[in-house]
Formats: sequence, C-alpha cells, structure tokens
Amino acid sequence: MKQSDYLIIGSGIAGLSLAIKAAQNSSVILITKRALSDCNTAKAQGGIACVSDEKDSFESHINDTLIAGAGLCNKKMVERMVKEAPQRVKELLNWGVQFSKDEKTSSGYALGLEAAHSNRRIFHSGDMTGKEIERALIEKVRSNKDIQIFEERSAIDLIVDDNEQCLGAFVLDNATNKVEVFAAKVIVLACGGAGKTYLYTTNPDIATGDAIAMAYRAGADIANMEFVQFHPTCLYNKVEKSFLISEAIRGESGILRLQNGEPFMEKYHPLKEMAPRDIISRAIDEELKMSGEEFIYLDITHKKSDFLINRFPGIYAKCKEYGIDITKDMIPVVPAAHFLCGGIKIDENGRTTIKNLYAIGECSCSGIHGANRLASNSLLEGIFYGHRVFEDSKRFLKEIFNFTTVKFKEHKISKDISNYFMKDWKAIRHLSWDYLGITRTNEGLSIALNKIETIKREIDDNFAKTELSVDALELRNIASIAQMIALSAFARKESRGAHFNADYPDTLSQAENTIINKNTQIRSERI
Ligand code: SIN
Repeated sequence: MKQSDYLIIGSGIAGLSLAIKAAQNSSVILITKRALSDCNTAKAQGGIACVSDEKDSFESHINDTLIAGAGLCNKKMVERMVKEAPQRVKELLNWGVQFSKDEKTSSGYALGLEAAHSNRRIFHSGDMTGKEIERALIEKVRSNKDIQIFEERSAIDLIVDDNEQCLGAFVLDNATNKVEVFAAKVIVLACGGAGKTYLYTTNPDIATGDAIAMAYRAGADIANMEFVQFHPTCLYNKVEKSFLISEAIRGESGILRLQNGEPFMEKYHPLKEMAPRDIISRAIDEELKMSGEEFIYLDITHKKSDFLINRFPGIYAKCKEYGIDITKDMIPVVPAAHFLCGGIKIDENGRTTIKNLYAIGECSCSGIHGANRLASNSLLEGIFYGHRVFEDSKRFLKEIFNFTTVKFKEHKISKDISNYFMKDWKAIRHLSWDYLGITRTNEGLSIALNKIETIKREIDDNFAKTELSVDALELRNIASIAQMIALSAFARKESRGAHFNADYPDTLSQAENTIINKNTQIRSERI
C-alpha cells in the first residue's frame, strides 16, 4: 500500500497546481493514466480568461459568464472566480508560464478575444496555451521531491468505508497489470472530461469520464450531465479526427461559410460568429442537415499571413500537414463534443458529497459554467478550485488517519468473454453521437437509453470476469457516462444552454440542476 497526505488523480492544470501547493507542507502522490502531459489541459488552444485591460471590468466578465451559462450558474462562485483570476494568473506567471506579450496594450500582454466575451481578456501562448501551462507545471512537479509521481496508473475504483469516508483508490499499474492500493487523508479527483463517450470529439484519448464514473459508483452526487458542450469548429479530416480549430480564429474575424461560400450566421444570432458556442454548433448542425453535406468552412484568409502564422502557429502547421494553407485556403470544420459542463457535484470548496473526497476541473460540477461554458473559463476554473481545495483540505490533515486494510476483489478471468468490449466501445460512441448530440428528441433519447442500459448491464455482469486493462476500465466508464447523459437529458423537460431537445424547445422560468445518485432516484434541485 502507498500512503500519503494527498492523493491527486489527474495531471491537468487543476491537479498539478494543487500538487505544487499541497507539497509545501504535506506529502503528495500524483497518479495519471498515461504520461503527465496526456490531458485536456495540454490540448487547450484558446487560453485563460482574466480581466486585465483598463477598458475591461470584472462585471463584464461575470456578466458574459452568466449569459453563456443560461440561468444555471452559481453566481456567487462566478463572482469569486472572476475577481480572483488576476491572482491565479500571477501564480502561473511566477511558475514560469510564458504568455504572449504585446507592449502596446495596457497589461503588456496580447489579450485574445473569443465568442461571447465582450472584451479582449484571454491570456494565451499563441494557440498552444495548454501545452505551455503543462510544460511549466510539469517542470515544477517533477523537480519537487515531495511529490511522488506515478504515470501509467489507471484508477479502478475509490475505496469508501462504512461511514462514507473516502480512504483512497484501487489503481491498475498499466505495465504490470497489478492492482495497487493508494491511501490518503485527502483524495482529489482531477481527471478531466468525457469527450470520448462521443464518436467525434476535440478531446484526447484519455477523456473517458473515469473520475465521474468512479465517484458515481462510490455513491457521490453527480450533477447536470446533460450539458455536453459541442465546439463548433473541429478540423474535418478523415485521419486527424480530434484537432480543434480555436474559437480565437473567429475572435480575429474568421467567418463561417457554407460550401458554396455563403456566410450564414446572421440568420441565427445578431452576434454572428461571436455568438455562444451552443448557438453556433446548432446553426452548423442545422445547415449540414439541410444541405446533406459533411462540413462547412471557416475562413480567415482575409487576414495578413504574417499575423496568422504568428498568432496561430499550431493550427497553421497542423492544417499545412493536410494540404490546407490557412492564409489562402478556407478550413473545413464540423462541430464535435468538447466539454462537459456537468460532473461530480461539488460545494464551494470543491468537496463532493463523500467525506475526504474532492473533485476539481472538468470532472466536477461547481456551477461556474451553468448550462454552457464561456470560452477560456475552464483553465481558470481548474486553477481556482485547485486553490480552494488547497485551503479547505488543510483541516483534514490534522485528523488521525485510520486505514482499514481493504483487499481488491481479484477478477476471475473467463476466456469466453475476452475482447467483448471492443464492439461495445464503438456502439456507445455511435449511440451518443446519434442520439445524445447537438439536437436531441424524446424518441432519440429513449432509443439511446434502452440500448445503452442493455450494453451497460452486459458490461457490469461481465466486468469481474474480464482481464483488467485500461480498455476494459475505460469502456465501463464511458458506458456509465453515456447512461448518465441520457438519463439527465431525459429528465430535463426544456432546452437550456448546451442541452437542446426539439420536443421541448423552450426554456422554463425556474432553473434547476439535475442530480443523479446511484442510491436514490434522479432528482431536480432549484438553484
Ligand atoms: C478554443 O480555443 O476554441 C477552445 C477554448 C475553450 O474551450 O475554452
């Protein structure tokens, strides 16, 4: 058994920033399913939203966040996060993160603009902000002797005692296939989102909703799983299926065009290309359904090539690999699953409904994003709640830690069911894309729910007979995520933010959260 004060599962901005702080006075174990940099943070192109220009204001950032969130945000926490953002960004700078500079601005930084933001306020590192943040934070955690890092370790399940207190986790060593026990006074889930539940996603392969599925199995409340955000512009390419084309391109005046070259966003929203993501994704979805075509174009060719190559070096290089010169050619794009606004329900300090168990970042549902996340608020939410957990969890460190030895129930492998999961993996991703996507209907949700529940039952019945592997764990988790999305979407009798049901197109006046718990019925909670 490996024991520490903190067990942090996940290596994005939320997990790494917390590890750096926690290690000042405590022992920290950080585990991650693949390499440290295999996380959603590393893929973030846009940046981190933070008011710093003299023409901008906290009120404006708060307001933009609340409008995007469509009545479901936790206003108090949005206000705190926005006002604390300058402190958190300063921390990143102190840890060595390099953001793009512009001496002509009052802040000295080249602030980006993205859809639904009223002002330029996005700190970015070209179009590879997440990669730069990960570089600096990984350097910090690797050089800290008080942080023990275990890569290629997949969390299987949380260990929760009879008093509903979390004690640690069972973890698979991917290389040896051995199960290890990690015990800690404070357990923090920071494993990111669940984009891989869908056929098309901007997310990396690790995004299989592991934390949410584990917390659900452990009995935690899970909130608002119906709010899956679809990014309007993922590169349309048969080989490169998950490459994001940043919203910042639209922020720099990129135009969405049909294949015949016509712009179309004016029909859908007065802000056109700068409308919130859900509106743009639905508009594209509608246009594609009407035309029967497979993609639309994003056009930024009217900007100077020097500017484009400097501002978007990653997108320029990736598109070039596929014969698209963004300075001359329009970029073929489609919407794809991008961000889960729901997740493990947490309070204002990051606590879940299970004692000693925290959740931060995309796997959590803090209420900051409401029904639809504002661009570039996710890195900020990750570091903001990482800090809150650091402050709040100190009290648990003083408690006497009583770890009752728990043994992992070994699987009894049956050869007959080997590889059964590969077909289910595909089926779930197709079902989610077809029925739990941008536009939902009652009939589609009911088809999805029936089929997903059948698959999930089969997986649950056979799991203990399966050889443990990352694939098997991930499959069990995405099946659980798909089921939670379908159940929550079914329960919501309205359309709001990222959830659109064509059979209930209106938004109800009373905003409610949808809560799922394995021990109780699905329920709604007024906000
Ligand atoms: C983007 O660069 O378009 C993504 C930014 C985000 O998801 O916040």
